[in-house]
Formats: sequence, C-alpha cells, structure tokens
Amino acid sequence: SNSDSYPHPVRIAVIGGTGLQSLPNFTHVATLNIKTPWGTPSSPISVLHHPSPTSGDPIPVAFLSRHGLHHELAPHEVPSQANIAALRSVGVRTIIAFSAVGSLQEPIKPRDFLIPDQIIDRTKGIRPFTFFEGGMVGHVGFADPFDNSIGEIVRKCGHSLSGEDVRLHDKGTLICMEGPQFSTRAESNMYRSFGGSVINMSALPEAKLAKEAEIAYQMICMSTDYDCWHESGDVNVEMVMGNMKANAENARRFVGAVLDELSKEEHADVVEAKHLEGQMKFAGGITAP
Ligand code: ADE
Repeated sequence: SNSDSYPHPVRIAVIGGTGLQSLPNFTHVATLNIKTPWGTPSSPISVLHHPSPTSGDPIPVAFLSRHGLHHELAPHEVPSQANIAALRSVGVRTIIAFSAVGSLQEPIKPRDFLIPDQIIDRTKGIRPFTFFEGGMVGHVGFADPFDNSIGEIVRKCGHSLSGEDVRLHDKGTLICMEGPQFSTRAESNMYRSFGGSVINMSALPEAKLAKEAEIAYQMICMSTDYDCWHESGDVNVEMVMGNMKANAENARRFVGAVLDELSKEEHADVVEAKHLEGQMKFAGGITAP
C-alpha cells in the first residue's frame, strides 16, 4: 500500500542497518514521507502492523532504513537529526537500532549478537550531532547512552532465541568510529586497549540525538568480522556483507521477538518512555510538547 498518513501515534521504531533493510512477516499499512526542520530522513518511514501477543490488537511499528532504501548513504552521510526528528514527530518513544559491527575481542565471534551498554565516541565531529544549537542551549546526560529498561527486555528476548544458532553477549563497549575507511591495525589495537568490545560507524550521533529527544534507545549489534587486529585476515566489505547475509534470518528473528515482547501491555509505560519524560528540563533544554 502507499497510504501517506497513519491516524495514531506510533511508539516503537526499528532503525535497520546494513543487512536489515526490511521486516518481513509484518503487514505494511502506510508509507510516511516526512520533512523536518533538519531535512528529509534516510528513507520514508514504513508503518507496519504487528498483532499484540496479549490483546491481539494490531500494534504499529515504524521502520526506517538508516542507509537509505538502496543503501546509498555512507555512515557519515546519514541524516540522523532528520531521522530522529521524523520518528519523534510520529510519536516514537522507543527505538531498537540494528547495526553490523566488527569484533575487538576473541570470544565475540562473527555472527554473534551483542547488546552494548557503553559507547566510546571516535567520530570526528563532522556529523551534525545535536538539536541544541542556534540559540537553544542544553546539555543532556549521556553517562548511560542506552536505555536500560529496553535493554533488559532485548537481552531477555535474545536469550530466549539463544542456542547453537544464536549466540548473545549481554553487554559491551561499542567504539563508534568515523569511517568510511576501516581502522588501521594500530587503531584497532588501541581500541582493544581501551576495553572496546565491538566497533561500528553508526551508533553516533544517532544515540545522542535520541537521548536529547527523550526517546529510549537500544542498539542490537551483530558481529560480521574480527576487524584488522586479528590474525585471521583484514576486514573487507565482502566479509561484512557475507556474514550479515548469512545471519540475516537470525537478525530478523531477534528483532521480531523483541517487537513481540515490546507489544505486550505490561511494557506500555516503558515503551512510551514515561521514565524519560521531562529529563531535558534538567538539562537547560526545552521539552517537546
Ligand atoms: N562495521 C562492521 N565491521 C566493522 C569494522 N570492522 N569496523 C568498523 N565498522 C564496522
């Protein structure tokens, strides 16, 4: 369908990354082409319907493709301000963000999943990274870049799928680098010495902007390679894409299980991010109405 409006607020969004460009098994009900004061998002927002496992009522989910419908946006070209503003404008309060990552630790094998709890910012400051500028000053707390309430639900879902096929690491520090080039071997080893678990180019500024917008944000990482510190061979795009493709079905199962769980009545307050409401007041900022 091509409906260009949706009559209800949509609380939950999935930002799909490399290899997670769609969510099959959900009913597509609307395509929203949204313009924001920060520009146009990476892709139209697809509204998908998903039956609530408790009430059976359809629960709407917004899906946004981070790199565009045809993977045409490099990590430093992703319009994150527009993406977060567009999702917030349709009512989104919880984001499940997906990302392919390189592993910086031997036990985190290619195709393993990891739910990060920390980020080290190694972007270069060239991406627009805040809503607070141009006369509006605010400093949001970023000590915990991910939302722990949503994180716990995501971990539980991951463990329910865990087995021979799906391996899950419960926490870890995500290095977000600028790219688009991969790291040098010296940088890769430095990130290991920092205590980094995994590395990508996509968590920032997305996570910072979600925090400023009072949206509960959790990333699900899927390892596609060992980066270049490892003796098994240097990372390249074929390696990343090959592992992503081989494990895409598990990635979709994981995200599907998380959406099932988040659709339950008992999580309604968390999904609506009631626990985040008004926090920007203490940051000297302005809370969106
Ligand atoms: N995304 C997937 N693998 C990566 C790597 N090794 N470095 C940075 N981003 C990545």
